[in-house]
Amino acid sequence: MRPRKKHNLDKRMQAAASFRVERPEENKGRWRALFGAPDDAPLHVELGCGKGTFVCESARRNPDICYIAFDKVPEVLVMAMEKAAGMGLTNLRFVLGDAALLEEYFEPREFSRLYINFCDPWHKKRQAKRRLTHRSFLAHYMALLGEGGEIHFKTDNRPLFDFSLGEFSACRFALSQVCYDLHAADAPWNIVTEYERTWSDKGYPIHRLVATVTAETAPAPLPRRGAAGQEQEGAAEAPFPLPDGMPLPDGAGHPDAP
Ligand SMILES: C[S@@+](CC[C@H](N)C(=O)[O-])C[C@H]1O[C@@H](n2cnc3c(N)ncnc32)[C@H](O)[C@@H]1O
Repeated sequence: MRPRKKHNLDKRMQAAASFRVERPEENKGRWRALFGAPDDAPLHVELGCGKGTFVCESARRNPDICYIAFDKVPEVLVMAMEKAAGMGLTNLRFVLGDAALLEEYFEPREFSRLYINFCDPWHKKRQAKRRLTHRSFLAHYMALLGEGGEIHFKTDNRPLFDFSLGEFSACRFALSQVCYDLHAADAPWNIVTEYERTWSDKGYPIHRLVATVTAETAPAPLPRRGAAGQEQEGAAEAPFPLPDGMPLPDGAGHPDAP
């Protein structure tokens, strides 16, 4: 007999099925058609949406933008789908899938903004390549976004934020709105995610940046590998030179409009 939890999950998935895209690869190159939106309608993607608070509120505030949200864990994705259903949203769909497979689901330049909110920090050095802001992921994102496309990144984890600044810089993204304490700044447009609420309530400052694809943006070489096949100690975390004008790490930063 199947466990009750799984049974309930299947039933809940079915009840909110109209919000889920089961075979995302079939929508490659024509995601906007899902929403009956014109070819030039903005399409935004969130990776690791969790229970969906951020993407649902984004979709509610911006009815002319189409949203696709990914999470690889069905138990949380179903909560996000139920939230969207309860809010009656028509411009949002969900995919149960891995961020590593994005290129199977989207054509180059198909979406213009990517949200990564509070992704797992994978704090051990040998786990660096699993971070969603590792240069190997950035190489995929830059192709799918195209020039002018933006990555909006938030985290409470300072080592991950610093690592990510280095990775974006190494790939020559244009960095802007780099902020080390978003909640201390005047940012009324900010939509607080579930993790953001939890960690901010515990006193952790929230870090945020926007990374834009420019004509200069290009994949960065992968760090050298050691004899054991691991990235060499510190290689992926070595500080890369930061662009001119970037605030010093302890500055308040620039919480501009999104
Ligand atoms: C720390 S939670 C943050 C959730 C939400 N973004 C927030 O800010 O509250 C990270 C989420 O990313 C999802 N996730 C982690 N790696 C992923 C991947 N490779 N592809 C898709 N989702 C992923 C996890 O299942 C989890 O729900």
